[in-house]
Amino acid sequence: MSDLDTLAAEADRGIAAAADLAALEALRVALLGKQGSISALLKSLGAMSPEQRQAEGPRIHALRERVTAALAGRKEQLEAATLEARLTTETLDLTLPSPEAPRGAIHPVSQVMDELAEIFADMGFAVASGPEIEDDWHNFTALNMPETHPARAMHDTFYFPDQMASDGRKMLLRTHTSPVQIRTMVADGAPVRIIAPGRVYRSDSDATHTPMFHQIEGLVIDRGIHLGHLKWTLETFLKAFFERDDIVLRLRPSYFPFTEPSVEADVGYAEVGGRRVLGGDGNAPGHGWMELLGSGMVNPRVLEFCGLDPSEWQGFAFGVGVDRLAMLKYGMDDLRAFFDGDLRWLRHYGFSALDVPTLSAGVGVRA
Ligand code: DAH
Repeated sequence: MSDLDTLAAEADRGIAAAADLAALEALRVALLGKQGSISALLKSLGAMSPEQRQAEGPRIHALRERVTAALAGRKEQLEAATLEARLTTETLDLTLPSPEAPRGAIHPVSQVMDELAEIFADMGFAVASGPEIEDDWHNFTALNMPETHPARAMHDTFYFPDQMASDGRKMLLRTHTSPVQIRTMVADGAPVRIIAPGRVYRSDSDATHTPMFHQIEGLVIDRGIHLGHLKWTLETFLKAFFERDDIVLRLRPSYFPFTEPSVEADVGYAEVGGRRVLGGDGNAPGHGWMELLGSGMVNPRVLEFCGLDPSEWQGFAFGVGVDRLAMLKYGMDDLRAFFDGDLRWLRHYGFSALDVPTLSAGVGVRA
């Protein structure tokens, strides 16, 4: 047997006997590493005569290939054995109960907004939105509140510093969702049938006011729209929302710069055990009227600001506090708790994520 055959036989034996990956790696280094025995053989080719090299070269290369393949084969075996050993020692008991997963809840404000979207979608309203950082043209001017208008001062507006003005317009946190009316009419023209729920901001804070709160705006623009459409829409919405057929609405003359005429909508309630329960005629003994929302026929000046011809298009609008609707429906009495992020409150008043409001199942199913 030549030296090469001996080396091959030794390598085969060593590889087969390698007990683990570390031993196998040591063997690889000893054979094929820089100082390895096969590497030395390959280097010796350089010193041979051409005839000798022609005879030895193929044998040495064949040896290297054979050893390389043997190493790879053994490595695969050892790895499979390691995995097998791990699989037999590690066990997974599938009969164990799953750990208690923390469960989130849908905030009542989100729930009420979903309920409102569902109710109004059924009446053909799309949901529109606008930026919370607004400019004073959309928030005031186009809503018929010029710079000198006293209503501007009533809104306790958070203004941005003057240098942040855009096109000479003052930037602010929107004080109501009404600017979405303007944005929708400017972008889409008429007809329009939208609601716009969202956050609004005013510098005001007590048990019933927070610097950020939620409103929902409604806007309908079409031909021949009148107050009767407004009243029917509000009545239908409130009956569906409070899930009572005996909701009675009273429209009371009021004033908003962007509507003419303007009406405030009150809802009749009954005093039951010291609590106000919505429903019934507010004029009956033991009953009263609760102010709920502002509305009216869109002022022709607002239509003009948006590029619509008031002799062709008319409409109505309304705006209502979403947090207040939630409080009335689900019985919370402190608005500030809405935004405290107190888990106990959220667990108590929150809704299950599976409780998607639908008209057929009732829009206010409790979790
Ligand atoms: N934007 C008014 C507010 O925040 C609410 C309002 C009143 C909206 C009358 C309207 C409306 O669309 O017609 O106080």
